Amino acid sequence: MMVPDGMTCVEISRPGPPEALVAVRRPPPRPAAGEVLIKVAAAGINRPDVLQRQGAYPAPPGASDLPGLEVAGTIAALGDGVAALQPGEAVCALVPGGGYAEYCAVDARLCLPLPDGYDMVRAAALPETFFTVWHNVVERGRLQAGETFLVHGGASGIGTTAIQLAKALGALVFATASGAAKCEACRRLGADLAIDHTAQDFVEVVKAETGGRGVDVILDMVGGDYMARNIRSLAADGRLVSIAFLRGSTAELNMMPVMLKRLTLTGSTLRPQSNDAKARMAEGLRRTVWPLLSSGRIAPVIHATFPLAQAAEAHRLMESNAHIGKIVLTV
Ligand SMILES: NC(=O)c1ccc[n+]([C@@H]2O[C@H](COP(=O)([O-])OP(=O)(O)OC[C@H]3O[C@@H](n4cnc5c(N)ncnc54)[C@H](OP(=O)(O)O)[C@@H]3O)[C@@H](O)[C@H]2O)c1
Repeated sequence: MMVPDGMTCVEISRPGPPEALVAVRRPPPRPAAGEVLIKVAAAGINRPDVLQRQGAYPAPPGASDLPGLEVAGTIAALGDGVAALQPGEAVCALVPGGGYAEYCAVDARLCLPLPDGYDMVRAAALPETFFTVWHNVVERGRLQAGETFLVHGGASGIGTTAIQLAKALGALVFATASGAAKCEACRRLGADLAIDHTAQDFVEVVKAETGGRGVDVILDMVGGDYMARNIRSLAADGRLVSIAFLRGSTAELNMMPVMLKRLTLTGSTLRPQSNDAKARMAEGLRRTVWPLLSSGRIAPVIHATFPLAQAAEAHRLMESNAHIGKIVLTV
């Protein structure tokens, strides 16, 4: 496949508002040893892209400065030593940056096949949330069939993935979201209970619904005042997994329940982890989750698509919090 000398991509011209995203021309990246070059057809948008644009989440060393953590497309070129993929093959991939572009280079081990029947838009909506939810809910949170799971931001990209995956794993699933429409979306995706956090106190609802026992695993992206409330909502031996702090990362906490209930407080960020660690997650997903996607048992929720050049518009939508599920750029 011929790779041109120049490509269109969207860069962060300065830390700032959505208008800071501008379309520019750059040379396409070259795949290093062990990498493939993907001709991008679609790129998913994630909240960390918004933080990066604002200057609060810099690209890790060695990663592209362009935003974009997930893509779908076709293999355009192979770096040295790549034998498992062929030019022309359709893949989706978790990338450490550089997704908002016509071409993107990535470690070959972080490519996954398109699930059966998937187009590029749906495939581009998968990697970031599925790697994140797999790692945090299954590997760190150790959610088991029969346990009770609570996810905050249930209508977010992460939340819509977490509800479906936890349900498919056999958990009882609770979700919080703002407003009736988002709560209804959570229930449609399989949540056994959706709590409108603008009208109800999730601590009281969890207590009532579990007969005072609490939930086994919480996936939290809110932080702030939710930290103490999460601890109150966990059952004995419960696990709290923090993946973001939309309401701030500091709080005064009474740690006594952590000791008395034998709680585990953990968390992670996906992007700075090693490619070896991400490759292990990819294997887990390929084995356990990709068959669920291929069978239609679970599926990404696509809220809207925008052409690459309208990335700023897509970010405005994400920051409005009006979306349910994923926003995807078409390239
Ligand atoms: N650690 C990691 O590896 C990792 C990886 C990917 C994403 N993340 C984080 O996971 C979160 C979700 O990502 P996403 O791409 O799915 O984003 P998203 O679709 O934009 O969802 C964000 C959700 O956060 C909720 N929210 C926003 N501001 C809030 C506030 N002040 N208080 C409570 N809830 C608030 C909104 O839900 P309601 O309208 O229902 O309140 C919204 O649905 C983000 O914070 C992102 O940074 C972490």
